[in-house]
Amino acid sequence: MPSSSTPFDAFFQSITSGREFENLKKSGDIADLSTLEKSLTSMQSDVAKANDLMKNFDTKCSPPSWSDHTSTGIQNPPKTGNPWDEEIKPAIEVQHFVKKDGSPWGFAAVAGMNDLKKELSESFIKPLKFKFLIEKLRSSDPENPTSEEEKKKHEMILKLYSEYEKFKISIPTGMLFYGPPGTGKTFITKKLAEELDCGFISKNMGEFGSSYLHQTTKNIKDFFDGAKKAAENEPILLFLDEVDSLVSARTNNVDANKSEEVSQFLQEFNELENAKNLIVIAATNRPDHLDPAILRSGRLDKKIYLGPPDEQAREELFKMYIEKAGRPSNKLDYRELAKLSHGYVSADIEGICDEVARDASRDLLELIDEAESGKLTEKELSGHVITMESIKKTILETPSSLKMVDMNIYTSWLEKIK
Ligand SMILES: Nc1ncnc2c1ncn2[C@@H]1O[C@H](COP(=O)(O)OP(=O)(O)O)[C@@H](O)[C@H]1O
Ligand SMILES: [Mg+2]
Repeated sequence: MPSSSTPFDAFFQSITSGREFENLKKSGDIADLSTLEKSLTSMQSDVAKANDLMKNFDTKCSPPSWSDHTSTGIQNPPKTGNPWDEEIKPAIEVQHFVKKDGSPWGFAAVAGMNDLKKELSESFIKPLKFKFLIEKLRSSDPENPTSEEEKKKHEMILKLYSEYEKFKISIPTGMLFYGPPGTGKTFITKKLAEELDCGFISKNMGEFGSSYLHQTTKNIKDFFDGAKKAAENEPILLFLDEVDSLVSARTNNVDANKSEEVSQFLQEFNELENAKNLIVIAATNRPDHLDPAILRSGRLDKKIYLGPPDEQAREELFKMYIEKAGRPSNKLDYRELAKLSHGYVSADIEGICDEVARDASRDLLELIDEAESGKLTEKELSGHVITMESIKKTILETPSSLKMVDMNIYTSWLEKIK
């Protein structure tokens, strides 16, 4: 019996746990006690559903979010006419990132991490893109009238692939990114999807929850079914963010429902093995909270630590978020900024740059009235720039987000799984 959370729960509990009810039970004065119990239990579950529905109404009313991608929804199953199904069906959205003129694309937008970018390019991106290309060529219509030149080109590509295949190189199809918050796990995964030029499905594992009994389990199944279906049409990168929030070690959970959800997740996860053209990346800040079964599954064959940026990466980050972003500044000593920001993660540095830009632009806002009254002069427009002093001051005022993080988590976890 769940603890009282609604007035009805309290009512139900007070009836069924009261002395009178016990006495009635004992005396056999209630003709059909089990029917009464059943109907009370069913009423209680209806009340829980109604509560959930009200919560859903709230979230459904929020405005749509804006994003810089186009998306093609994959086909949803036909409507059943059951309003419950519609309210709680998790939406699967396949994103396709679109190149924008002047914005860096793929790994070009990632500061530092040179070893990781090199490793991913060589052992992951290039072989996978090659595999995707071959599959595309093989599935293209042979009757399709292409020029002789095109045909010859295709043949050579296929020959090149069969030479490559002889080396029996296995391409990883799943990875776990782990490390402290703000080190770019989510960011680099999106950039990886850009590099691969594939569809992107992202889900924060903490969003699966539902207070319907067994509904979370169904949501998990629907989600994975949707992802597999999407991967039948095109290569998909499936991103399971904050995977620890769902698949935390079952020993920590006394809740039987939770355990059922974890089992469902692991079952679906293992079944991904057979899904063609589906790359899985899971990310976590708390690898030590992961259920060992997800690591044993073999689907996350590479485990990659993303740590705080080194000095060179920090220099690049400052350059990226000030100079390359085209923000007006005096001449800046980026090397010194990198030294001063030791122990800060990428997200902190991005935040510091946003803050100094906001400070430097503040005076411009003060000039709006003057501009509207026609009194603004060209001279007043100049001199609003980011300075070395303003950045140094902001670094001093901004605590590193690693302050609250126990970095031993990562080293000791790595020792454990070796
Ligand atoms: N290597 C990087 N280069 C450029 N920006 C980065 C990099 N790593 C992180 N960032 C910035 O920091 C922000 C936070 O990173 P995020 O991927 O959300 O961290 P995590 O998922 O590890 O908590 C990103 O939105 C991105 O703008
Ligand atoms: Mg993240």
